[in-house]
Parts: sequence; structure tokens; C-alpha cells
Amino acid sequence: MDTTSETIVSATTPRGEIALRVRPDPSGSGVVHELVVAGVFAMDSLDPSTEVALAQEALARVDSPDRVLVGGLGLGFTTWQVLKDKRVRHVDVVEIEEDLVAWARLALAPTLGLVARHPRVTIHAGDVDRVLHGESDPAGPWDLVLLDVDNGPSFLVHEGNERLYRADALRAALSRLAPGGVLAIWAAQREPALLDTLESLSPTDEVLLEVEREGRRLEYALYLARA
Ligand SMILES: C[S@@+](CC[C@H](N)C(=O)[O-])C[C@H]1O[C@@H](n2cnc3c(N)ncnc32)[C@H](O)[C@@H]1O
Repeated sequence: MDTTSETIVSATTPRGEIALRVRPDPSGSGVVHELVVAGVFAMDSLDPSTEVALAQEALARVDSPDRVLVGGLGLGFTTWQVLKDKRVRHVDVVEIEEDLVAWARLALAPTLGLVARHPRVTIHAGDVDRVLHGESDPAGPWDLVLLDVDNGPSFLVHEGNERLYRADALRAALSRLAPGGVLAIWAAQREPALLDTLESLSPTDEVLLEVEREGRRLEYALYLARA
């Protein structure tokens, strides 16, 4: 997190501090929004290319992505990219932090406002793990299930999310897909164990994405499994 960041709003949740912050854009125009979850820097708006790619790669793999589930609102980039696809009739977003859902409704960051006001979106406050196990609404099936709730099983922000990457949760997620649907998972690094587990359940693609951040080359990964 940049030391010149200013907090717009923050709250304490059972998982720790959540905050929206801004810092000057290095290009000299506008600001960069930052999201802190569980007291840890989660993401910013400087380069959302991999969050966007999560949506693009999944959308490219299905003919009729009528209904889409997005797990983890974040700053809204994945959801906004889904909404740009006119084939999509409805998007359910499940976000664990109620405060973030409220801030989206107040449009405290640009993409959050666009997503929260969109007529084809319903934002649900809750744990996507419970939704995938059928223990809380919304109910599927979905043509796409996109999960970007954490950095990946080897580098968790919320320890509680470890269960989401286990075989039973992945099987539950695949079972929520309509025929021909795709489960797509974002990770901040390659996750060989996750790939093995997914491949044991369903044909899976690994897509590696190179991003340059603060002078360093980073490799993110997407995992896309077919119903
Ligand atoms: C990295 S952000 C997602 C970024 C998003 N793809 C975007 O484009 O801005 C992760 C989000 O997942 C949420 N989250 C974490 N664990 C969750 C869970 N188990 N269920 C639902 N949301 C969760 C966090 O609060 C955070 O908003």
C-alpha cells in the first residue's frame, strides 16, 4: 500500500479491517482506488487486467452465458466486464463483506457504483462457499461461476477460504453449473495442487498472465474447468 494513500471509508468486521483508500495516479491524472480486506491490501484499480481476464477467458468458453455468478465483489472489475457482454442476462454477485456491499451502493468507487446500479445485477452479502453448497441464496444453475475471493490456496488472505479450494467445494461449484458451463478461478500465482484437484474432477485449462507491477514482473493464473 502506498504511504500517500488516504482512507475514504473503513470498518471493522469479524475478519479484520476493511477499507477503501485512494492515492494519486502515477500518471498525474485522477486517483487509484485501493481495497483493504482482513487488514491486508487486496487490490487496486491501477491495472485490473487479470480481474478483467477472468471474465473474458470464461465468457469466451461458452455460447450462451445467460446467468453468471461472481464470487467476490472487490472493486467490481470482473463483474463490470461480465456486464459488458450483452449475452449475459443476469449476474449474481456474492460478497462476504456487508460494508463493501453498502459502499458499492453509495458508489464510493467508480466501478463499484456502475455495478451496484446495474439493472442486470443482484449483489448478495454472504459467503460464496455457502452458496455453492446450496446452504444460502442465490440458487443456480449458472452458465459461469467466477471465483476471485482470495489469492489462491497457497497464499490466503482469509484462512477460512482454504475450504473453497478443496475437492468437495470445487465439486459443489461444478454441480451448480448448467450443462456446458465453466467454473473459473483467479489466483495470484500458479497453483499446481489446485490444477491437479480440478483436473481430477473435470477437464481444466490453466491460463498464465504476466503483469508488470512497480517494476517487477508477476505471473498470475486462471483455472477454467468445464461442467
Ligand atoms: C480480490 S477481491 C475481488 C476482485 C474482483 N475480481 C474485482 O474485479 O475487483 C476479493 C473479494 O472477495 C471477497 N471475499 C473474500 N472471501 C469471500 C467469500 N468466502 N465469499 C464471498 N466473498 C469473499 C473479499 O471481501 C473481496 O471483496
